[in-house]
Amino acid sequence: MKPKVYITRKLPDRVVDKLKNSFDLRMWEKEEEPVPREILEKEIKEAEGLYCLLTESIDRDLLNLAPRLKVISNMAVGYNNIDVAAATEKGIMVTNTPGVLTETTADLTFALLMAGARRVVEASHYLQRGDWKTWSPMQLTGQDVYGATLGILGLGRIGEALAKRATGFDMNLLYHNRSRKPDAEERLGIQYVSKEDLLRESDFVCVLTPYTQETVNYIDEAELAMMKPNAVLINSARGGIVNEEALYHALKKGQIWGAGLDVFEQEPVPTDHPLLSLPNVVALPHIGSASQNTRLKMALLAAENLIQGLLGETPKNLVN
Ligand code: GLV
Repeated sequence: MKPKVYITRKLPDRVVDKLKNSFDLRMWEKEEEPVPREILEKEIKEAEGLYCLLTESIDRDLLNLAPRLKVISNMAVGYNNIDVAAATEKGIMVTNTPGVLTETTADLTFALLMAGARRVVEASHYLQRGDWKTWSPMQLTGQDVYGATLGILGLGRIGEALAKRATGFDMNLLYHNRSRKPDAEERLGIQYVSKEDLLRESDFVCVLTPYTQETVNYIDEAELAMMKPNAVLINSARGGIVNEEALYHALKKGQIWGAGLDVFEQEPVPTDHPLLSLPNVVALPHIGSASQNTRLKMALLAAENLIQGLLGETPKNLVN
């Protein structure tokens, strides 16, 4: 008998084809709608493998319903949606998809930085509304990116890829990380500083840390108060790392200059969220890794991890 696998979202045919020979597959067939919790609770009872997205909360209660589960393969690099400690206690392997999305996510992070600095979205809305009456000296003026100071909070793969892009703009590079990375310092000409110094000195602050208990509200009122009035905060990691209420107030009173956000505490972010009412916020619907090639690579890598785990090998991207 083939091992039973549940897939929580409709996947591209190529990915399903890769899995269907080895497994007895069941899949939530909708692309734009997450699987309802009660269906997931029912499906997980029989499943030996679970292929899931960051939209599913794989918590202890769910795992308690899953006596046969051996592998959880998350199609994302972040895995804060999974209770890894509970999975580990139960002997369940958890895998993610690092590496394949690094460059694509760094591209989007830099796009947010540029858009925030130069008011790209605001200016486009200005034109579309018919407000463009003439060229004028200080109209829609933004912040310079070239030669500015970029502070990266969390110098992992994506942080390094972002730094590489920033060197092309002759940016002065700072980082803060749990551990120092002398190798990266040498390679990228990036300087390690305290979190406080980074916040005080950077024109652009990019949040790229994982979302863990230590990084909940990592950027809060006190941190925002340390930033420069011309500073732009970029978050393409996870919503809860930045306190949204504190960010709203900092932006509203001009304590910082702008923000570029690809992630939110609640996703999809409600359209009446106060942050979305501010012209100096560029907001995107969690599309950091969303290039056609990269999403396919992520989906295939998640499939490979699942296959390896269920066929008795150590998956390439085991996180526990
Ligand atoms: C996306 O946010 C991911 O973690 O892959």
